[in-house]
Amino acid sequence: MSARSADPLIVLIGLPGCGKSTVGRQLARRLGLGFADSDHVIEQRLGCSIRDYFEREGEAAFRDVEESVIQELSQAGSGVLATGGGVVLRPVNRQRLRQAGHAIYLRSTPEEVFRRLRHDRNRPLLQVDDPLARLRSLFEERDPLYRETAHFVIETGRPSVPTLVNMILMQLELAGVIPARP
Ligand code: S3P
Repeated sequence: MSARSADPLIVLIGLPGCGKSTVGRQLARRLGLGFADSDHVIEQRLGCSIRDYFEREGEAAFRDVEESVIQELSQAGSGVLATGGGVVLRPVNRQRLRQAGHAIYLRSTPEEVFRRLRHDRNRPLLQVDDPLARLRSLFEERDPLYRETAHFVIETGRPSVPTLVNMILMQLELAGVIPARP
């Protein structure tokens, strides 16, 4: 993702729709690092959308592809990596991401995510009669897994994307992951 060896790998994890890709892209720009989105890499590899692949091959097959892409991306050096919301389901992914980089959990409530995603037709897990109930159960299952994987937790709540990016930069500075800005 990037060439300079001292640069960090920053990994964003969290529920679908918590802002991993949007925040990740802006964070990468502010840090002058490369950006990758594991779902995009997976779709390039599959040659079709994740939704189509889910429908055709099922979730387990998707998780196998996801695991192998995460293995590659977590070894790819520095940059900012946005991941799919279910990446933490497999212990091997949790371990790889935590070891390879500085993992940041963008923590949103199911209600916040529902407000953002209620018209979304691309996320296979949310194409159900009651997507809010689905999000609540995903949150219950995954919140402990995101916490276990993350080095930092950022509550997404109300702040704008630039504010969230500043909050992340501040955390990374305080932890000595990136140099303090003048
Ligand atoms: C998934 C989230 C999606 C994508 C796939 C499965 C999940 O990514 O990886 O549809 O299990 O929550 P986003 O978090 O970017 O929506």
